[in-house]
Amino acid sequence: MLDQVRAIAAEAHRHLAQATTEQELELWRTRFLGRKGALNELLRGLGTLPADQRPVVGAEANRLKRELEAAFEQRREALVARARAAALEADRVDITLPGRPPVIGTLHPTTQMIRRITEIFASLGFDIVTGPEVEWDYYNFEALNIPPGHPARDQWDTFWITPEDSERPMLLRTHTSPMQVRIMEKQKPPVRVVVPGRVYRYEATDATHESVFHQFEGLAVDEGVTMADLNGTIYTFARRMFGERRRIRFRCDFFPFVEPGVDVAVDCWVCEGAGCTLCRRSGWIEVMGAGMVHPRVLEYAGIDPRRYTGFAFGGGVERFSMLLHRIDDIRLFYGNDIRFLRQFVA
Ligand code: DAH
Repeated sequence: MLDQVRAIAAEAHRHLAQATTEQELELWRTRFLGRKGALNELLRGLGTLPADQRPVVGAEANRLKRELEAAFEQRREALVARARAAALEADRVDITLPGRPPVIGTLHPTTQMIRRITEIFASLGFDIVTGPEVEWDYYNFEALNIPPGHPARDQWDTFWITPEDSERPMLLRTHTSPMQVRIMEKQKPPVRVVVPGRVYRYEATDATHESVFHQFEGLAVDEGVTMADLNGTIYTFARRMFGERRRIRFRCDFFPFVEPGVDVAVDCWVCEGAGCTLCRRSGWIEVMGAGMVHPRVLEYAGIDPRRYTGFAFGGGVERFSMLLHRIDDIRLFYGNDIRFLRQFVA
């Protein structure tokens, strides 16, 4: 019977070496070490042996059992290691490949233009503040010397939040000018502020009109402020914004909240004033409205117009971008076309 033990040993080792998968390994275990496996079958036959041989064969069979169990473990570990190596090989990463560059966004052209404008005024000593986009009729119109029913209201196409004739009418602000009075209510002169922000107009959109766009408002109030201060401020701004050689032109214009009011133009930076398509052959480009703050506006804000004077100005942010980058349709700004926006890398 010892021969049988040895035969099982030889066969088991041979088959184990041939097992290459988890499944084959399991079959091998059942066949040789299982409850009904070769070794147990043999042990069950021990009883038929003469008593003196039983311990010898029994000991040998148990030794073989431990030996096969150890061999099984070893083989299993070898197969697991091989499988892991194969998986790693198949899943190999080439660490020398260049990485995929992350997509980096750009600031919206309007944001960039607001920063450019406000940086210039900040360097001239202006504070930069913002205000509410939903505004009382009082600030948007009345305190700016545009009383209810005044025909000047027709200049602004308005989105009303409440009915126009309600007790305290409210609207989406049609310009950034209402911040003039809000600021002066809080801060006594000297005041020097620039207010960038979004404004709304109830309009049919086309290449030059959007119902949502941006403006910047300027206000300076102190004792002895004159039109010469307005002129010098706008002149400095225009040269930093549109080029070192620029000249500026003031012409009479009407805005209810300034007196006198002016229309500000700069000479065309494309043709140097000779006349081209950008300036529509005129040599001049209108860039802002401005003027001396109307005494009544100062009064609305609780500031004594006999002691203080001020100037104010306002312009369109998208208009600046359109002029400087020669963009021919304002709707491009908020059309969310990435091909348009990507062209404005800061
Ligand atoms: N608020 C005016 C508009 O929306 C622009 C403007 C004109 C602002 C003259 C001013 C100013 O401060 O003095 O058309």
